[in-house]
Amino acid sequence: MSGNNESRLILALDVYERERALKIAEQTAEYLWAIKVNWPLIIGSGLGIVTELKDATGLPIIADLKLADIPNTNRLIASRVFEAGADYIIAHGFVGSDSVRAVMELGKTIIVVEMSHPGAKEFIQPAADKLVELANRLEPFGVIAPATRPERVAYIRSRLNSEVKILTPGVGAQGGKAGEVLKAGADYIIVGRSIYASENPRESARRLYEETMEV
Ligand code: XMP
Repeated sequence: MSGNNESRLILALDVYERERALKIAEQTAEYLWAIKVNWPLIIGSGLGIVTELKDATGLPIIADLKLADIPNTNRLIASRVFEAGADYIIAHGFVGSDSVRAVMELGKTIIVVEMSHPGAKEFIQPAADKLVELANRLEPFGVIAPATRPERVAYIRSRLNSEVKILTPGVGAQGGKAGEVLKAGADYIIVGRSIYASENPRESARRLYEETMEV
């Protein structure tokens, strides 16, 4: 099954089990632009799950590793993850441009500019302006901004180069609303629990997809 190029919905597939992950991916692929894989799935099922998800769905895979190490270590990790078939890797910007560049030299990269949880206000939100400047300088594929704070997404959009996409986690379980954050300037919403932990993941993905198409 292949995905939907017009979709602005990214599934955060935060389950441990390989079979469950593949089943949910296949059930929802029709409504997705991409699948985001995070540590829970990689720890539970191994890096090979990236290749399997790609083969099963034909969708782009985003590896949400939030890389935050020195350039050499970022490079060692990113090279294996891109080799496994990841199309994008999420990296932290606060470690500095050399660490981010090490990932960007190997493949398409998404930089965390501001996070969606309450604790993000302590350290990363005060640094968001500088992280936007970093993104404007390096021009990655995109940045991560919080769907839980649409006003921050609008602010980040106003300062960010227009070619750099904004991807926003925090819709659903964390309280963000798809329509609000897309109107604020997000290009994509990232949704995990509201899809994979629902009784009918396919129906939940369909509903969110319809919501994004109304904006
Ligand atoms: P839920 O279940 O809350 O899952 O819909 C959200 C997914 O997105 C990740 N996440 C973030 N990733 N910056 C990020 O780079 C963030 O601010 C952020 N907030 C949530 C989370 O790990 C999960 O995979």
